Amino acid sequence: MLHGIDVSGYRQAEHDIEPLFVERWSPRGMSGEPLAEGQLEQLLEAARWAPSSYNAQPWRFIYAKRSSEHWDRFFDLLVQANQSWCQRADVLIVVLSRHIAERNGQPFPSHAFDTGAAWQNLALQGAKMGLVTHGMIGFDRARARSVVNAPDEYTVQAMIAVGQPGGLSELTESQREREVPSGRNPIDIIALEGSF
Ligand SMILES: Cc1cc2nc3c(=O)[nH]c(=O)nc-3n(C[C@H](O)[C@H](O)[C@H](O)COP(=O)(O)O)c2cc1C
Repeated sequence: MLHGIDVSGYRQAEHDIEPLFVERWSPRGMSGEPLAEGQLEQLLEAARWAPSSYNAQPWRFIYAKRSSEHWDRFFDLLVQANQSWCQRADVLIVVLSRHIAERNGQPFPSHAFDTGAAWQNLALQGAKMGLVTHGMIGFDRARARSVVNAPDEYTVQAMIAVGQPGGLSELTESQREREVPSGRNPIDIIALEGSF
């Protein structure tokens, strides 16, 4: 339970599912405390087991711990709105996908789909462990390529902030107002039988 928030006050599944799916959400409040030894590896281990086309595992997670010399370069990639709360994250991750298949050197159509599955594994594992994991699109993609020294066959997909929950008083007023689990479209919007 993140921030002591019971998600059932905000989210109700309409069908019987594993509770972890609704218990995962994306807080911005983090304490700035470091992850415990081995926790980052647990998150990456969960990501590792995602399914992928041809089991190609096209995801790559290039990370910077706050305590390392890499942190500033990663943090500087973020737009100011994300920097304002990510200053209390402990790990920043640049997620990339290999869009050229290793097996035949041809374009790999499911690279983004597969890498999204790996990120979701990481996020669900984080929720299970009581950690904040928060995906981000608000960063300089072009500069991220050079910061992580990405080879040409990789596409930058997103960044992820990881940290210990807390620090609510450090958020801006509008961030505090939004610091609750969000809702979702009903199934009949996202799934249609036969055709659109
Ligand atoms: C790929 C991706 C990019 C995102 N980019 C940002 C971002 O730049 N800044 C931010 O504050 N939240 C960002 N989010 C968080 C989303 O707004 C959030 O996941 C969405 O509102 C659903 O809420 P939930 O994750 O709490 O269920 C991003 C999420 C994803 C998956």
